[in-house]
Amino acid sequence: MSARQRIAKALGAATVGALALGLTACGGGDSGGDDGLTTVGFVAVGPEGAWREANETNIQDTFTEDAGYELKYAPATNLDQKSQIDAFTSFVDEGVDVILLSATEATGWEDSLKRAQEAEIPVILLDRGIEPDDTDLYVTRIAPDNIEVSTAVADWAVAAFPEGANYFVLEGPAGVSVVNERNEGFDAVAGAQASLVKVGAQTANWSTEEAKSVVETVLKSNDNDLQFIFAQNDEMGLGAVQAVQEAGLVPGTDVKIATIDGTRNALESLAAGELSFVAEYNPLFGETALEVVEKVLDGEDVESSIVVPSATFDSPEAAETALPDRKF
Ligand code: AHR
Repeated sequence: MSARQRIAKALGAATVGALALGLTACGGGDSGGDDGLTTVGFVAVGPEGAWREANETNIQDTFTEDAGYELKYAPATNLDQKSQIDAFTSFVDEGVDVILLSATEATGWEDSLKRAQEAEIPVILLDRGIEPDDTDLYVTRIAPDNIEVSTAVADWAVAAFPEGANYFVLEGPAGVSVVNERNEGFDAVAGAQASLVKVGAQTANWSTEEAKSVVETVLKSNDNDLQFIFAQNDEMGLGAVQAVQEAGLVPGTDVKIATIDGTRNALESLAAGELSFVAEYNPLFGETALEVVEKVLDGEDVESSIVVPSATFDSPEAAETALPDRKF
C-alpha cells in the first residue's frame, strides 16, 4: 500500500475521491504504489566523516524494501547546496511519498520546501536544522539536541578548570545549523565564567588535517599558553591532539580537548588519555525516523522537534566501558 493509499485510508473512504482528485491536481505524480513500496527521497550530505557515514548508513539500512520502502539516496556533490536543491526538486517532480533532508546549509530552502508543500509531500529534517525554523514548511526535525550537547561540554569545562583557562574553539563550517547551535549552547555557560578566556575560534571544516594546522598556529601565536580546546566534532579534536603532541605538549595534561560526536576513534583517544571529554551526538536514529515517517504518512500528528538521546564520556574508564559495544 503506497503512502497516498495509506493517507486515503486514514482519512476514510468518504474523502478518498476528493483526496485523489486533490493529489492529482497538485501535479505530484505518485511514484509509490505499483510495487506497494513507499518512496522516500533522501537528500543527504554524503561523505563528510565518521559521524555522517554512520548516520547515512543507518538510514539506508533502516528504510529497506523488506520494511516496505524504496529509499532514493541523493548525497550532495562536494557538500554543495545547489546539488541538494536539484535532488530535492527532482524528488518533488517525481512525486516521492516523503522527503528526508540533511541540509548542508541552514538557509536557502524556502522555495524548495514550498514546492514540496504544494505537492503535498511531507519533509522531515534529519540532524541539520534550517532557518527560519518557525515554519510549517517541514513536519519535524529529528536530531540530538545541539544546545544540550554543547552545554554538557561547557559544564565539563567549568568543572575541569576551577582556576580558569585560555581556550580555543574549532568550529564546523560557517552557515551550518549545528555550528550555530553548538556555539550558542557552549557560550551560554562558558561565556558566563570570567575565568574561562576565549583566545579565539576558527572553522576547521570538520577536518582532522585542517584542525591540526589551525591549532599549530594558535599554539605558536599564544606561546603554548592554551589549556583547553573545544572541537565541535571528533575529527577536529583528533587533529588538535596531533598538534598538541607535535608542539611537545601532553594532550589531556597540558591541554585538555573536548569533542562532540562520540565516534569510535574519539572514544579510543579518550581511553588513551589524549581527549578529555567526548559528548555523543547520536547518529543512529534510523528507527526513530521510520516510526515518524509511518506516523506522518498515516496522517498522525508528530512533535515539531524529536530529540535523539545522547550520552557523555568524561574518563578513559567510561570510554573503555563503551567501546566493546560501540556501533559507530
Ligand atoms: O551535523 C552533525 C555534524 O556533521 C557532526 O557533528 C559532524 O561530525 C558532521 O560532519
